[in-house]
Amino acid sequence: MTTAARKLGSESCPSPDTEPLDVEKIRADFPILHQQIHGKPLVYLDNAATSQKPRAVIEAITRYYESSNANIHRGVHFLSEHATEEHEEARRTVQRFLNARSANEIVFVRGTTEAINLVTQTYGRAHVGAGDEVLITGMEHHSDIVPWQLLCNEKGAKLRAAPIDDNGALLLEEFARLLNPRTKIVAVTHVSNALGTINPVRKIVELAHQHGVPVLVDGAQAVPHIRVDVQALDCDFYAFSGHKIYGPTGIGVLYGKASHLNAMPPYQGGGDMIASVTFEKSTYNKVPYKFEAGTPDIAGAIGLGAALRYVESIGLDRIAAHEHDLLEYATQAISPIPGLRIVGTAKEKAGVLSFVFDTVHPHDIGTILDQEGIAIRTGHHCSQPVMQRFDIPATARASFALYNTREEVDALVRGIEKVREVFA
Ligand SMILES: Cc1ncc(COP(=O)(O)O)c(C=O)c1O
Repeated sequence: MTTAARKLGSESCPSPDTEPLDVEKIRADFPILHQQIHGKPLVYLDNAATSQKPRAVIEAITRYYESSNANIHRGVHFLSEHATEEHEEARRTVQRFLNARSANEIVFVRGTTEAINLVTQTYGRAHVGAGDEVLITGMEHHSDIVPWQLLCNEKGAKLRAAPIDDNGALLLEEFARLLNPRTKIVAVTHVSNALGTINPVRKIVELAHQHGVPVLVDGAQAVPHIRVDVQALDCDFYAFSGHKIYGPTGIGVLYGKASHLNAMPPYQGGGDMIASVTFEKSTYNKVPYKFEAGTPDIAGAIGLGAALRYVESIGLDRIAAHEHDLLEYATQAISPIPGLRIVGTAKEKAGVLSFVFDTVHPHDIGTILDQEGIAIRTGHHCSQPVMQRFDIPATARASFALYNTREEVDALVRGIEKVREVFA
């Protein structure tokens, strides 16, 4: 990846100069990978749904429960102070990972879904009114559609979606045309979970900001694969889930520019998010605590911190290069298979290979591959509008992570050949 690309939030292909990963060494860090499924070695290619966890993450969580467990922020005793420090250290790790200006811009949430709901219910409710518009794209995950729909229904506003082309790339000119004085916020996925498309987020932000419109980026499928720099992207909000980047489920992140977070009303009420409470009136804590009501997922945040440090220790550029190689290799290997069509052929892609067979339903593909020990995902991938755009009910989706190998891609190809034989 070039320095220029990195400065722009890293939307281009990885640099060929990056030192290759020692995948066998990496695989040794993931205990779950070393097992047989239906008598065959597990080939885990469902990483876009959730990734597996390295020992560093599992041990960080175990260590926390074995030696540090206590509730945070409210205690004066040793364990509480220690747990608080570990939790806040995780926040600083996220800040460094995203290159946010301040740790106060990092809000811990349950995941991408909750992060987007937080923005719709706070920023959205305060800024979107009757007749206004929210602009998304035609490749969003349901979690970046439905919360906006709820908001628009409540306010009498309109949800608009910028179209995508036959390769699954955003039609940027159409997107630009849809921006108008009624647009109050843009929400866009960084990487499509159904197609693998990498969106030109820096350009999207630039266009939206020319109209004074803030941009939320759904980074669920981006952070495990490409280096993200929220300052370089200049996005207003950035959301991601821990479990897709080798961390635990139940923890995620909302990055927000401090100016927005400070001005936004709270999301949920309860303990920790307040400064003072009387029956007449409450005042609120400073950010990010204003948005973190109740006891948070302390172990989850610590596990996420460990996951991000693990990724940093390997290097996102090297991970991107490795996954880019796997994607190219797999694309070339499955393209010639008769009756198979790849869905999502944009020039800029990360990590995801979606395909359909002319005569076989994706669920049958998934079931036969499972018998070979190969885990892929089949269905609409919570992106029904994408399926509608391509006039298909579902796809089979293989998705890659840093621990996958070319040999596993070969196993996938053999499995697909088997599907053809069964349905010949
Ligand atoms: C692009 C994208 N956005 C949002 C989500 C929702 O993530 P979570 O279920 O972790 O909240 C996903 C999950 O698959 C996704 O792929």
